[in-house]
Amino acid sequence: MYPMTKPVCKPLLPIYDKPNIYYALSTLLMAHIREILVIVPVGEINTFASLMGNGQQYGVRISYLEQKVQRGIADAFLVGKDFIGSDSVCLILGDNIFYGPGFEIDLRKACSQGTGATIFGHYVEDPRPFGVVEFDESGKVITLEEKPKIPKSHYIVPGLYFYDNQVISIAENLEPSPRGELEITDVNKEYLRKGKLQVVPLGKHFHWFDTGNAESMFIASREIRELQQCTGRLIGCPEEIAYRNGYIDDRTLEQTAEDMIKTNYGKYLQKLSQAHNLQ
Ligand code: G1P
Repeated sequence: MYPMTKPVCKPLLPIYDKPNIYYALSTLLMAHIREILVIVPVGEINTFASLMGNGQQYGVRISYLEQKVQRGIADAFLVGKDFIGSDSVCLILGDNIFYGPGFEIDLRKACSQGTGATIFGHYVEDPRPFGVVEFDESGKVITLEEKPKIPKSHYIVPGLYFYDNQVISIAENLEPSPRGELEITDVNKEYLRKGKLQVVPLGKHFHWFDTGNAESMFIASREIRELQQCTGRLIGCPEEIAYRNGYIDDRTLEQTAEDMIKTNYGKYLQKLSQAHNLQ
C-alpha cells in the first residue's frame, strides 16, 4: 500500500466514495453498538478524530487509543481492556466491508448472545490469505486455521467478531504466532476448544470485502459503486443508519447535510431527511 499509506492510514483511504472506515463504522451502528473505541497507529488519533469526532453526529460515543506496538489483531483486547470493562465486546477490522440482505438480523443476534463467541463464515474462491473454518456434514465447526497453505474449506472468517468478557483473559494468555502476532484465530480456537464458538454462515449472495491491498480496494470500490447505482442508496453511510435507528434527530441530520451540502454525500443526507419529513 506504500506510498499511499505514507501520509494517510489505510482505513482512511477511500473505497469508491467514502473513507474505508465508514463501512466498518456503519456495520457497528447496524448492530446497535453505541460505545465505540477506535484503535489507531501511534500519532494518528487526530487524523481519525478529524473524520469521526466524538461520534455525536451519529448519536454514538467514539473514543480513540493508540496501539503502541503492532502486535496483531487480538492485541485490541489488551489495548481496549479498560474500555471493555466487564462487558461483552464486538471487534471489527477497519478494512473489512460487509453488505447483504438480512445482515442486520444476524448482527443483532450476535450482539444478544449470552456467553461465548459468534463469528461468521464466508465462501471465497481462494481462502489461503485468511482465517479458514472447516465444518462437518452437520455444519459443526471442526477446525480453524490462520492462512493455511492447504485450506480445508473455502469458508473464511471475516474480520467481525463478537465475544463475551472472557476474551480479555484469553487474549492475555496468547502466545505470539510464528509471524510474531497475537492471532485472532487463536482466540477463536480457544472458544472452539471450550465448545463456545458459534459460526454463522453468510449467505451465497452476501458481499464481503477485505480491502487490505490495492487490488482488493479497487474491486470493492467497483462493486460498491455498482450496488449503490442499482439501489440508489449509499452503502456505508453511518449518518443514515444513525437516523434510521433513531440515534439522531432531523435537526442533527440536517445540520450534517448542511455542513457539506455542496457534496454528493451532503445532498444524499439532505434527501433522507426531506423524504422522511414528506411521509
Ligand atoms: C486477518 C485475520 C484473518 C481474517 C482476515 C479478514 O488477516 O488474521 O483470520 O480472515 O483478517 O480480513 P490479516 O489482515 O492479518 O491478513
